[in-house]
Amino acid sequence: MNRRASETKKAGVMGWPVDHSRSPALHGFWLKTYGIDGSYERLPVKPEDLAKALRDLPAKGFAGVNLTVPHKEAALAVVDEVSPEGRRIGAVNTIFVKPDGRLVATNTDAYGFMANLKHGAPSFRPPLCPALVLGAGGASRAICVALQDAGVPQITLTNRSIERAEALARDLGGKITITPWKKRTNALKDVGLVVNTTTLGMKGQPPLELALDNLSTTAIVTDIVYVPLETPLLAAARARGNIVVDGIGMLLYQAQPGFEGWFGTWPDVTSALRDHVLAAG
Ligand code: ATR
Repeated sequence: MNRRASETKKAGVMGWPVDHSRSPALHGFWLKTYGIDGSYERLPVKPEDLAKALRDLPAKGFAGVNLTVPHKEAALAVVDEVSPEGRRIGAVNTIFVKPDGRLVATNTDAYGFMANLKHGAPSFRPPLCPALVLGAGGASRAICVALQDAGVPQITLTNRSIERAEALARDLGGKITITPWKKRTNALKDVGLVVNTTTLGMKGQPPLELALDNLSTTAIVTDIVYVPLETPLLAAARARGNIVVDGIGMLLYQAQPGFEGWFGTWPDVTSALRDHVLAAG
């Protein structure tokens, strides 16, 4: 290895497909901003090749990687160590290669969600804020963990397939009440925070049907969908005076711990970064 190659820090994102990922634009912006000698690559890896691709990271000189669909759960069985958050969520999105070659995995989505919410809604007081979470997929798991750790007194969970919501509540424990998908609007009257974690409202998907009449106008409404940035849910909430927090920030904040671990600098989330990543779509 020549001297220059050994100094260049390498990271990337593994997925299948991985063309759509905005992580290269995000980390590339930070590398340039902080003048770091590093690279962040797209790493297309088929599911059947994941274990070998992860095991090859130390020899290939990688400091670590992000994982995206469909690798976030499968990686748990490959790495040497999983953080408590990763275990609770049941999925990992960030891997660090240790100096001895060990692979340590964590999940930064819960952190990213909460950091975005706190920045977007500084009035958020978790202990006073029962929450309604729509959806029970992978993103919902991370968000429910984030809300539990922040100390919300109650989570009401609703999902089209009720079995999936029941499994999530069983796995996480704590105060999670399930409400049938058809009755979701009833749950609005008791909450101070509404989170859409479903794909409804995303470009190309059906809209999320949720009449907000029962919701207090002091409640916060957030959506993890960020294409479009202002989803129909957020537009409706904004029009009636609710505080709204869009979803792109979750992507930006979840990337901070990985960048620091790989490249040695804690990066800032700025409006310039936000504009750059939105334009990369
Ligand atoms: P992610 O990892 O991003 O959370 P996911 O695991 O595929 O993605 O979850 C997608 C979520 O959107 C689920 O809650 C899903 O509901 P089901 O568990 O019933 O599938 C929800 N979703 C997707 N399309 C939907 C639709 N047409 N109506 C209601 N919910 C929908």
